[in-house]
Amino acid sequence: MCGIVAYIGQKNACPILINGLKRLEYRGYDSAGIALFDSEQNLNVYKTKGKVSDLENFIKDKNTEGKIGIAHTRWATHGEPNDVNAHPHYSQSKDIALIHNGIIENYAPLRKELEKRGFTFQSHTDTEVLVNLIEDIQQNEKVDLFEAVRIALNQVVGAYAIAIISKKEPYTLIVARKGSPLVIGIGKEGDYYIASDATPIIEHTRKVVYLDEEEIALVQRNTDICIKTIKNEEKTPYVHELEMNLQELEKGGFNHFMLKEIYEQASSIRDSMRGRLHPETDTISLGGISDYEQKILRADRIIIVGCGTSWHAGLVGEYLLEELARIHVEVEYASEFRYRNPIISERDVVIAISQSGETADTLAAIRLAKEKGATILGICNVVGSSIARETHAGVYTHAGPEIGVASTKAFTAQVTVLTLLALRLAQLKASITKSRFKELAIELESIPEKVKQLLKNDEQIIKIAERFKDTRNAIYLGRGINFPIALEGALKLKEISYIHAEGYPAAEMKHGPIALIDEEMPVVVVATSQRIYEKVISNIQEIKSRKGKVIAIVTEGNQQIKDIVDYIIEIPCTEELFVPLLATIPLQKMSYHIAVMRGCNVDQPRNLAKSVTVE
Ligand code: F6R
Repeated sequence: MCGIVAYIGQKNACPILINGLKRLEYRGYDSAGIALFDSEQNLNVYKTKGKVSDLENFIKDKNTEGKIGIAHTRWATHGEPNDVNAHPHYSQSKDIALIHNGIIENYAPLRKELEKRGFTFQSHTDTEVLVNLIEDIQQNEKVDLFEAVRIALNQVVGAYAIAIISKKEPYTLIVARKGSPLVIGIGKEGDYYIASDATPIIEHTRKVVYLDEEEIALVQRNTDICIKTIKNEEKTPYVHELEMNLQELEKGGFNHFMLKEIYEQASSIRDSMRGRLHPETDTISLGGISDYEQKILRADRIIIVGCGTSWHAGLVGEYLLEELARIHVEVEYASEFRYRNPIISERDVVIAISQSGETADTLAAIRLAKEKGATILGICNVVGSSIARETHAGVYTHAGPEIGVASTKAFTAQVTVLTLLALRLAQLKASITKSRFKELAIELESIPEKVKQLLKNDEQIIKIAERFKDTRNAIYLGRGINFPIALEGALKLKEISYIHAEGYPAAEMKHGPIALIDEEMPVVVVATSQRIYEKVISNIQEIKSRKGKVIAIVTEGNQQIKDIVDYIIEIPCTEELFVPLLATIPLQKMSYHIAVMRGCNVDQPRNLAKSVTVE
């Protein structure tokens, strides 16, 4: 959460920073700000409540010249979203400006101490405490900015990605990180581009250095980057080549990123299988974890950790791994797992699922499990992200950049990778027959084509969205492997359209939630052909007899259900185990259309941010 961008070079910094903020706006959009040195070495800070477009309007008539600058888009943690709490923050003397993504947990005692030493504060933020701490150290210890930052960061408890500029060293940019991500792009003309992730950098350069935990970098034009840890050890920067391409970051003719990403799923699912699934030779190869396969097979259990949509993918994974590979799986909310003193041993394998690879709770969960000796694997989308780097091994989902805050294509890519993993382990364990393996592998390969077909069907979904756009509540039901799909459907609806929605295992209805059913209540049921299809039909009958409105996701050609329910959405026929890959998609689309009809900001829903780097 929060996006940071910085630039140092020969070009005009302001447009580079503003474009960078636009790419990072998915990380937070409560307020935005920019700090620039002008030609007379004045350090100008402009900031405002609202979005990057508000900042752009705000600075129209301001002096925005300058070749060095820092900029920030905020997701509020400390202090309400307003102009004062927006970043960058000046130090008391206004000599230093700082932007920050993360949380300084011990900001209150630090602030008290600084107040005793004569500092006054304009904002309620933890960030203003940090910038004044740096100023205080510089004044008292007579050290340069880099050293003052290093000393300050040794006093700080919490997470940070920061960028700092100072009037006293106007040709220098200092950046540092712990817990929050930070990437340094190496430009072609001795210039440097800094950002929370690579999306603002890709249009300028493909060469990047990912800063590691507790590292600080001194960045100056035409000079190699100098990196040290906060303990003062020198580090050699390792230059990576970015693989992302620019078109992936544009809307490409769609009204919203979310819609584009929904429509990308035929290709993103194919990309997650590319080079891995070979039905013709009966092989599945997951190169990233091939050295760990035996370890997984010998494991006492697999623990899957994740948050939100990634946790839902984990629930589908539990079903797949237990059903196919007969391995005991537990799925945990990363945020609960990390504070529960969980029992973990060297015989456990922990799989962290995360689109961004930066989710603070998931990161903390894997660190805890690593300390206890477990083998840690990752399923991440963002290449080079913190989780990808801190796991022993992993499999990238290759879904491409996901910009819409609501996760869509990343989810189906996670489920695809989990399906490949379950099939691969089942093959190694011989827990399914060779012919069953082949059957499943062939069917999995056909899924992208079925998704393509499914994506053509919009009319019915729009009709349903029209009918229910003003509902205040909705219920989603599913059973077995489709229970997590009910949870995911409900999450998609609530997060982008602000309609209260809950997902339940269908049979749980009669243990309480059925009391909510009346003639106004839409109930979305995943009722595809499956082992317990008849039971799902009984659950639907229970709702209908209480006059609920049922929208059923059914297998193409199902005639029987048409007479029982109010609306049907057909999906192509597939193996029961692969239904989640298809059934999710109409639910994503339905949420999308309802949100658009309600006038909601689909790509940037209120109060949310894509990359949750705070606990
Ligand atoms: C919902 C959504 C969130 C994320 C969650 C975890 O649409 O996007 O629930 O799934 O914040 O994020 P990652 O996968 O980046 O760890």
